[in-house]
Amino acid sequence: MRKTAWSTRYGYYLVIVASAFSLGNLWRFPFVVEANDGASFVIPYIFSALILGLPLVITEIILGKAYKQSVIGALDQLTRESMLAPRLLKRTHLWVWIGRFANYASVLLLAYYAVICGWVLYFLGMYAASVFGVTETEGPELLNNLATQGYTQVGLTFVHILITAVAVSKGLREGIEKSLGWLMPLFFALIIFLVIRSLMLPSASDAIRYLFYPNFSDISSGTLTQVIGHVCFTLSIGMGTIAVFGSSLREDSRVTPVSFWMVVLDTAMSLCVGLLIFPLVFTLKTHATGPSLMFDALPRLFDQVQCESFGCGKLIGVAFLLCLYIAALASSIGLLEASVSNLVDRHKFTRPRAARRMGFIAFGIAILPALSSSVLKDIKILKMPILTFFDTFVVNWILPLVALGIALAVGYGMKTEQKKNLFIDPNQPETIALFGDWQFLIRWVVPLFILFAVIVNVWGVFKN
Ligand code: PHE
Repeated sequence: MRKTAWSTRYGYYLVIVASAFSLGNLWRFPFVVEANDGASFVIPYIFSALILGLPLVITEIILGKAYKQSVIGALDQLTRESMLAPRLLKRTHLWVWIGRFANYASVLLLAYYAVICGWVLYFLGMYAASVFGVTETEGPELLNNLATQGYTQVGLTFVHILITAVAVSKGLREGIEKSLGWLMPLFFALIIFLVIRSLMLPSASDAIRYLFYPNFSDISSGTLTQVIGHVCFTLSIGMGTIAVFGSSLREDSRVTPVSFWMVVLDTAMSLCVGLLIFPLVFTLKTHATGPSLMFDALPRLFDQVQCESFGCGKLIGVAFLLCLYIAALASSIGLLEASVSNLVDRHKFTRPRAARRMGFIAFGIAILPALSSSVLKDIKILKMPILTFFDTFVVNWILPLVALGIALAVGYGMKTEQKKNLFIDPNQPETIALFGDWQFLIRWVVPLFILFAVIVNVWGVFKN
């Protein structure tokens, strides 16, 4: 049983928004948009965030809040009380397996996420050093240097996982709530400032057209599966992290408004990031693609900000990278927390021991993606470099499948009265009417879309 409950409503909102808003919006969103021709990805993404993402976020929070446990324990208990085929479920432990997969997903994701956090640390260190005149930074050069230095990446990944594990062993709440209170507003302000700078570039109107005017014939089934995977990633669905937050919720906290604001803010911020990155990408003659895109584009934007005789672009760079790092750290803490709380709840580990164990496992796995652009650069899995393969496998396959399992478990297995109590907010009568819509979405719409995505994925593998 979890004892903590978020001390203030403001703190809780911040933590949940911060756990969603991070590298998914700043690092991943731009490169998947680019790989899928701009608006052909962006428009379905906005719809999916609302129609699939929002109901799934609500579902995971309800699961955690109902059983006050991490995802495996919650699904185990749900099996025991299940309304649907209880005997069969008990024998096969199907839902428990879904929970286990959520845990595996969180560890795999943390492993390559930590590599990218290591890149952020490297850029942050170099920018900070250049503010003090220790080194001269040139953005694209930094990226090239880092790509060839595999062992530096391994070292930085280790540092990041160590920081994450220490934060988790000290307890989720104290660790993040305080720093996020002042950090998120500052981060959002910096992003808005940079969006304005970027929109002053000559290619801004091309970028806006690229992001918001889709050519519907460009939307392929492959795009839709990437959209679904990215919605899960950016909203932290399918790893049990949101269930852990739900389990720490106070009795009187309402699920629906908090989920709504999380999805709306996260999506709005992704669109801002698009407006920040793409005018620049359009202005440049050459630019990086894939996971390097953000690291190539952002420094060029910082360089655009010049104050009189003083390199304030570098200072902005340091502030921005620091905010990004702390937001990514908050996400990493959420990811590690998912498997740590399972060990604590169900296997009676102490928190520090569980954090050590899971941190080690994540680091062991992370060595592969950390070396993917250097020592292991010739190794390709399904024609992809190792880091890209990790990302594609976790995001496009595992997360949607776990989300599907959780949607079915809660949608069909949990008692309607129990769900209603958690869903309906007495102060907001419209939630009474919305309950039926939510239930319909998680019982029918979400499963159909995800099954479609899975079929397209399987088809893609065989076609290759
Ligand atoms: N949603 C986070 C991001 O956008 C990633 C994440 C996934 C964090 C799952 C926690 C759990 O970066």
